[in-house]
Amino acid sequence: MGKGVLMPAGQRGSGAGGQEALFADAGLTAGTDGLMMAGVSLARIAHEAGTPVFVYNAEAIRRQFRALESAFASIPHRICYAVKANSNLAVLRLMHDLGAGVDLVSAGEMRRALVAGFSAESLVFSGVGKTVAELEETVAAGVGQVNVESLEELKLLGAVAARLDCVTAVGIRVNPDVTTDTHPYISTSHGSIKFGVPHDQVATAADYIRQHPYLRLTAVAMHLGSQLLDVAPYAEALGKLVVLVKELRAAGTTTLKSLDIGGGLGIRYEPDAEPGLDPAALASVVAPLAAQVGLPIMMEPGRFLVGSAGVLLTEVLYRKHSGGREFVIVDAAMNDLLRPSLYRAHHEIVEVLPAGRPSAMVDVVGPICETGDFLALERVMPLVEPGERLAVLGAGAYGFVMSSNYNTRGRAAEVLVDGGRSAVVRPREPVNALFASESVDPFATLSDNG
Ligand code: LLP
Repeated sequence: MGKGVLMPAGQRGSGAGGQEALFADAGLTAGTDGLMMAGVSLARIAHEAGTPVFVYNAEAIRRQFRALESAFASIPHRICYAVKANSNLAVLRLMHDLGAGVDLVSAGEMRRALVAGFSAESLVFSGVGKTVAELEETVAAGVGQVNVESLEELKLLGAVAARLDCVTAVGIRVNPDVTTDTHPYISTSHGSIKFGVPHDQVATAADYIRQHPYLRLTAVAMHLGSQLLDVAPYAEALGKLVVLVKELRAAGTTTLKSLDIGGGLGIRYEPDAEPGLDPAALASVVAPLAAQVGLPIMMEPGRFLVGSAGVLLTEVLYRKHSGGREFVIVDAAMNDLLRPSLYRAHHEIVEVLPAGRPSAMVDVVGPICETGDFLALERVMPLVEPGERLAVLGAGAYGFVMSSNYNTRGRAAEVLVDGGRSAVVRPREPVNALFASESVDPFATLSDNG
């Protein structure tokens, strides 16, 4: 089919039927007022909060959490939500109320989690490049576990714990050297990447911890990558961790309390795609391995809990035909949702108020001055007109959190809907705030003073 060729109304190249599954994942229904989320009209939210705006469905988040909980019901386990996926305080409070712990990757995320009501003890601090200041802040706060990623970091942590006189629980994040089938930028477990303690250094790390008066080895951890749809790499890598646990115990480690399997559980982004990773299938490969060493499971899902529960609403600014391509220029851009530009990720885009328009192949692009600024390329969708609104699906994880101020654009507003109500949980960033702390003439005071 040529670009810009019209097709009958309702015919969506990516499969109209498949969109229903995506709608169900997001808790979206199509009413006479257009798309509704948890009983709230998305058109109304766009009208009241303006666009671009991220909208999260609290009930869809709860549903995902409970699905994971029930899949793992027969295995002692703890779900530590990966804050990086969506760190809005309202989302964190929701996770807290569901009984989750939290996985952090910065002291900033810890501050958010504490404000949202989490106890320090329920926090796990992961990350390959923790600074001294971050280790000091988290250890002093009494963080539940620090997952170290190198011997160098471990030694620094030991020094910090001793200086602050705080006995600290440590997880060793192991690089299990398995391959995963995901985008190379988010694959984190093969041999030649920056993450994790190499397998052959784990025994040294464990010896160091065993001999350190302020460190306790409480977990062996892994995180294989993100948007994984197959449980086989989990089984392979966890099998390696189980062997390690046996070796560590044989060497004298007696303090282990959990096996941390990381996050990575993938979701459905495309119509007609299979549902994401099946938590029951994951539990079924994890259970026998965990049983071998009698340790509870800790996991750090992010995307699985919030990804499908969010949409990004945007308004069509212009339509433009150029170079044989049909462009839909919208008010959301790569600074709002980076995933299409960075990973070529597919996000389904649907009309907020379906107008029965014929479909065509279009590029959905934003106002930013880069050719790489797109939300979709060569997408068959209704040929929408300026002023109409679109919902970009699957925007609940790694959406707002990866947004930037590029082109001096204020970051989008965020709205939470729950049980027929909606609330702005972060207002749109005022543009003047973006440069309020900058200085036009930084040397003026100095020269005034001579
Ligand atoms: N634990 C650790 C140590 C991690 O590094 C991550 C994600 C998670 C847990 C949560 O992973 P999840 O369950 O969400 O897959 N920006 C990318 C994803 C980067 C993930 C980074 N680490 C994206 O938009 O796809």
